[in-house]
Amino acid sequence: PPSAFGVVDGQLAVEGVAIAHIAAEVGTPFYLYSAKRLRENWRTLADAVAPLGVAVHYAMKANANRAVVAVLAREGAGADIVSGGELTRALDAGIPANRIVFSGVGKTDAEIARALDVGIRQINAESFEELARIDALAGARGVVAEVALRVNPDVDAGTHAKITTGKRDNKFGIDADRLARLDNELKVLANVRLVGLAVHIGSQILSTAPFAAAYRRMADLTRELRARGHALTRLDLGGGFGIPYRAEAGLAAADLAETIRTTVGDLGVELAIEPGRSIVGDAGVLVSRVAFVKDGGDIRFLVLDAAMNDLMRPAMYDSHHDVVPVRMPAPGAERIDYDVVGPICESSDTFARRRSLPILAAGDLVVLATAGAYGATMAGTYNARALVPEVIVDAGRFAVTRRRIEVEEQLSWETVPDWL
Ligand code: LLP
Repeated sequence: PPSAFGVVDGQLAVEGVAIAHIAAEVGTPFYLYSAKRLRENWRTLADAVAPLGVAVHYAMKANANRAVVAVLAREGAGADIVSGGELTRALDAGIPANRIVFSGVGKTDAEIARALDVGIRQINAESFEELARIDALAGARGVVAEVALRVNPDVDAGTHAKITTGKRDNKFGIDADRLARLDNELKVLANVRLVGLAVHIGSQILSTAPFAAAYRRMADLTRELRARGHALTRLDLGGGFGIPYRAEAGLAAADLAETIRTTVGDLGVELAIEPGRSIVGDAGVLVSRVAFVKDGGDIRFLVLDAAMNDLMRPAMYDSHHDVVPVRMPAPGAERIDYDVVGPICESSDTFARRRSLPILAAGDLVVLATAGAYGATMAGTYNARALVPEVIVDAGRFAVTRRRIEVEEQLSWETVPDWL
């Protein structure tokens, strides 16, 4: 288990603080983050790539909690954003504008304009149509936008289909064989400066092979474009670095660094990566209480107070999260198979099927492990449920960084027109 989460007196604890103690104060369910683990993950990756001069832009979409991003900002993180909302959150956390890059296929005019106004480092454009739009907005402001072109390298990342982004039929990036158009396009776009290329092939990739293939492709394309007279000085390698959700090995930072070195290390460009999951994934868990143990005849159901609206990943990608009882079972204690489910009225509200666990009872606490990435950021209020709190622990202290947003507060976001 990640170093920050461990067992103290037979009970699961984070940085030495008993999770049961936090649960008693905050109520369940809630997300729980370890600042120590965040920093460890950040430093492991940043230190591994530092000798190659690689800038690290944290992918905000993985976890945009204010305190989480503040911890990373203080470590010197840059940010990869995909919306105006994430720009607001990155700046709020103290990430300097000149360390922010903006990705995404559907940026609005307002988002592009604001990015130009605050002076972010670079916009990663995903189409020629977008390039033209950026040009017009930059022209209207009398500035020259620094733009990288996101290329679709047509590489199979070998990951879940719903999180693959670098295949030709994905909506992302510009097909490499259409880059020839660039020479003519750029002649008429006086307000964009093409500074480099960008790539991102998918997420939760556990082997270096797909990265090596994509990075090599980018090196070739960079050389080709340079030969045609484009002064490319940057290359954004994206994120996607996989982590262990069960006992499997993650992608080691040293192996990633070596892959970068051998594929693009001698290009003479400023390199950047955009990790999300590998920074926050194992720094967070979702803490939940058993509501009922339901004997369904053939299947025993562990019904939790957390549900798919709080943690969507199992329902959406069939992803695995370990279910760990907060009170450690006695050695050799009996185990049985449970289907671990939430209270929502959908069969997809299932966290795990036939999971072997020690015997549990209503009221017991469990954690859904490795939930720091794409957990809280993807949560919603389906079934008129609350948005769960987020708690951060650092050096023996804990604080609620986002309180529970109950339905009464959600009602205040809505009105009924008086003419209805
Ligand atoms: N850069 C770009 C352009 C991206 O689209 C993404 C993620 C990242 C960086 C960060 O990737 P990471 O290092 O976190 O793998 N919701 C899914 C994951 C979707 C990832 C989308 N793009 C999940 O829960 O598995």
